[in-house]
Amino acid sequence: MSFITLITGGTRGIGFAVAGRLLARGHHVAVTGTTSSGAARAERALAERCGDPGRVLSLVCDVRDPAAVDLAVQTVVAKFGGLDVLVNNAGVGVGAPVSELPHDEWRRIIDTNLSGVFYCCRAALPHLKARGGGWIINLSSLASKNAFVGGAAYCASKAGLNAFSEALMQEVRHDNIRVSYILPGSVATGFSGREPETGADWKLSPDDVARVVEDLLDHPGRSLPSRIEIRPSRPPR
Ligand SMILES: NC(=O)c1ccc[n+]([C@@H]2O[C@H](COP(=O)([O-])OP(=O)(O)OC[C@H]3O[C@@H](n4cnc5c(N)ncnc54)[C@H](OP(=O)(O)O)[C@@H]3O)[C@@H](O)[C@H]2O)c1
Repeated sequence: MSFITLITGGTRGIGFAVAGRLLARGHHVAVTGTTSSGAARAERALAERCGDPGRVLSLVCDVRDPAAVDLAVQTVVAKFGGLDVLVNNAGVGVGAPVSELPHDEWRRIIDTNLSGVFYCCRAALPHLKARGGGWIINLSSLASKNAFVGGAAYCASKAGLNAFSEALMQEVRHDNIRVSYILPGSVATGFSGREPETGADWKLSPDDVARVVEDLLDHPGRSLPSRIEIRPSRPPR
């Protein structure tokens, strides 16, 4: 079965890996990023990899902007003829104690990781319903339940995302829309501008998380793995 999927923040990291896996399965995939250069680079790389540029679309869309989100969803529907799957992957985080966290950094984290997911779900739901059902898959984090010093805004945004996902799951399940949220542990990406560490082979790879998304979409209609935790099997002691 072929799906039409929109992945927010699919220009690199986990979102890019999800796009690669779904394209390899024959799906149509749109990815978003915040810059036209990043979006175009991702589209070229994904098209080259799957060998079918007609199934790939990249869009510039800051998920903090509800109007931009509405336009992105409409563009996907106009280009591919509908929407079946929304992967809310775009996310940011900085480490800073609360007493030193600037107001605009707090807003950037909450607006991207939580409000952005709301805007995307709100824009996508009518289209999922029009197709008779679909999936919403949210990228949360183990930090949502394992809070850490310096992570107050990030942990709060992801804990809020868990609650949002649980409520939405119950709200739309009878419309045949399945909502799942994934809680990865440490993943080897350049998350939020972080330098990739050397010697961090113990971390999950972005593709490990992408595989969870692919597996979810294979589940038969009667089953809904709603909350999935995935962690490195052998972290440093
Ligand atoms: N890496 C980890 O260890 C880890 C662990 C648990 C959970 N997660 C979660 O997994 C998700 C992906 O993380 P990652 O490590 O793959 O991150 P990443 O490598 O930093 O990639 C983040 C993606 O999100 C996009 N993005 C950032 N702000 C955005 C905004 N306001 N609007 C639209 N797109 C935006 C970026 O686009 P640009 O290219 O335009 O910047 C990029 O494509 C996040 O939600 C993160 O919280 C990550």
